[in-house]
Parts: sequence; structure tokens; C-alpha cells
Amino acid sequence: MPFDKDEVLPSQQAQFDALEPTRLKELDHAIAKWKGKPTALLQVMHVAQEAFTWLPEGALERISRGLDLPRAQVYGFATFYDHFYTDGPARNTLRVCQSISCHLRGAQELIAAATKQLGVTPGQITKDGRVRFECVSCLGQCDGGPAVSVNDEPQHAVTPEQLNQLISRLK
Ligand code: FES
Repeated sequence: MPFDKDEVLPSQQAQFDALEPTRLKELDHAIAKWKGKPTALLQVMHVAQEAFTWLPEGALERISRGLDLPRAQVYGFATFYDHFYTDGPARNTLRVCQSISCHLRGAQELIAAATKQLGVTPGQITKDGRVRFECVSCLGQCDGGPAVSVNDEPQHAVTPEQLNQLISRLK
């Protein structure tokens, strides 16, 4: 455990305490593994997001302290990369590709169908935390568009009806 509670301000401690202990353990393990290697910041942030499904402030604070990196750098990475989320949590992530190949094959219909069914626009999380919905540039499935991914599982040649079914199955 790389943190001494006495070193931490009460407000920061409250953020750490709000994190789920088992998931926190995964993050602490990654921090301990890569301590002293500031270039491992992205790997540690991936572990944190994998554990929490997003990057809560307490986790970012912990990464900053654990890797001995300026808070601004850690927060900067978290907000710069599209793949990291500083809002959450969300139990599922739905991504719809909106790049040209998928666009020409009906991505806009999928986006409209998901927007209607979920009641949120791309970039938002449903009020119940069930689904994070976002549009992305490419899912690496360009010859099988329109493509979506559900919790990183790619789906090809998806119709609006199929997408509605996929969304309905998300808990
Ligand atoms: S253009 Fe849609 S997956 Fe690449």
C-alpha cells in the first residue's frame, strides 16, 4: 500500500474512501508495479478505468501521488484521450462508429435509434447509469459497417432493429 493516510488531506481521503475497496486494490497493485516509472502513466490509467469503468477523481489523485507525477499531468491525460472517461460510472458502454465507411452504410440511423431508445445524446450516460453512449471515429471494423461495439465487443452490419435489441439486453 503506497499511501500513508497521514500524508493525505481530509478532502482527498474522502475521495479515496469513496472508491470500492476491491477495485482500489487493483489500482494500488498497478501503481506499486509501475512505481518510479512515470512513462507507465497510461497503463496505470487503463487499469484504473478497467476497474472503475471510469476515472474517478480519487483514482486520479491516487495515481498522481503513487507515480509521483504532477496532478495537472495526470488530469491532462485523462481529459485529452477520448478513451478515458472522467464522468461516470456507467455499467455498459455503447460505441457507434460514425466515420465515412460506416456513415455510408447507415451509421446515422443507428445513432438516431440509440438516441431515441436511450433518451440521451452521444457523449452522455443514461440517468440510471446503465449505458454510456458515444460516437467514435473508427472501431477497426470498416469492411463490416455499420459497426458498433458493446462493452468493447464489436458488432458488424448492425441494423437499427438489431441495435435496439442489443441495447435492451444491457443490464
Ligand atoms: S469506419 Fe466504421 S469501423 Fe472503421
